[in-house]
Amino acid sequence: MLKAKIAVFVSGGGTNLQALIDAQKAGIITSGEISLVIANKSDAYALTRAAQNGIKSEVVLRKECGSQEAFEARLIELLEENDIDLIVLAGFMSILSGDFTSKYAKRIINVHPSLIPSFCGKGFYGLHVHEAALEYGVKVTGATVHFVNEIPDGGQIIMQKAVAVEDGDTPETLQKRVMEQAEWIILPQATEAISRDIAGGR
Ligand code: GAR
Repeated sequence: MLKAKIAVFVSGGGTNLQALIDAQKAGIITSGEISLVIANKSDAYALTRAAQNGIKSEVVLRKECGSQEAFEARLIELLEENDIDLIVLAGFMSILSGDFTSKYAKRIINVHPSLIPSFCGKGFYGLHVHEAALEYGVKVTGATVHFVNEIPDGGQIIMQKAVAVEDGDTPETLQKRVMEQAEWIILPQATEAISRDIAGGR
């Protein structure tokens, strides 16, 4: 069976990208292959991780493109040039338009660091999500992998995993626990499941 070709979109540290790379090496991801990493920040450490693992990467800057339309046109160009089947948003801090998401319906997945529908949508990203969870006082949080559509964090849920909030947690300690106990586990699992569907369906 031909593997699904995966592009991972990143903006920062890339620990979720690392989890995907490790899962591919460990045989957890077998139906897909990480073929391309695209960053919208030129200093994203995720680019170093891609290079260290021999994965092709590209930087596409919204500002240099001049408009959201031109930015997305460049992304599409790269996705088409590389025959990408599945896009994984792994800490990608830029909202994609409805035109883009509808072109890749059920072909874009995202990891979000809360149990959707809590603490999600516009403005809820990165550490802010954990700040909001602690401020609200929830005792359980977690992570969600979902399909991406035109509504930020609003697409169909694929997988979720709960994580306990502990006394004395700071946004940083909570973020670390959610990553270790949820994100780095369910993102590779969901990537394999969707890759298997794509590879098996053609
Ligand atoms: C992760 O916690 C990811 O879930 C979150 O940003 C972090 C990126 O870390 N994404 C969002 O908040 C998207 N709405 P990483 O670069 O180390 O993978």
